[in-house]
Amino acid sequence: MANDMLLSQEALKKIDRELAKYPADQRQSAVMAALAIAQDEKGWLPAEVQQELADYIGMPAVAVQEVATFYNMYNTKPQGKHKITVCTNLPCLLSGGGRAAEHLQHKLGVGYKETTADGQFTIVEGECMGACGDAPVLLVNNKRMCSWMSNDKIDALLEELKK
Ligand code: FES
Repeated sequence: MANDMLLSQEALKKIDRELAKYPADQRQSAVMAALAIAQDEKGWLPAEVQQELADYIGMPAVAVQEVATFYNMYNTKPQGKHKITVCTNLPCLLSGGGRAAEHLQHKLGVGYKETTADGQFTIVEGECMGACGDAPVLLVNNKRMCSWMSNDKIDALLEELKK
């Protein structure tokens, strides 16, 4: 593959492994995994990266864009190094989710969909993560679930992520 790809050879190899799981005429089935791999590398999914994935997989760019914009785990805009998703669905709201969100916003000085000036943190609202019994629930970079987030635990999490 040419060196002028936006994604690294390492990322493309990982995408190849995902593509290998599907028949040749079903390559588009790997698009969600490919988007996640691209996002892990780039931090977000600019239109050019989505286009590159479309070309690489062999599917229309608009179909890649539809997937990237449908699921909120994909970042279609630049994000802070750490994206913190706060579950604000009703069960969490009734169990401290609102308090956790307010504390996070107060500590970081930014609102939802905003990034701190140092580029470290972005806060977004999220839908139910299936862990309502663990409320308040935060998700860091779409992967790390943080449960029962008291203000003290939020403070400790932010300190840890800053390191
Ligand atoms: Fe927050 Fe379910 S409502 S995890």
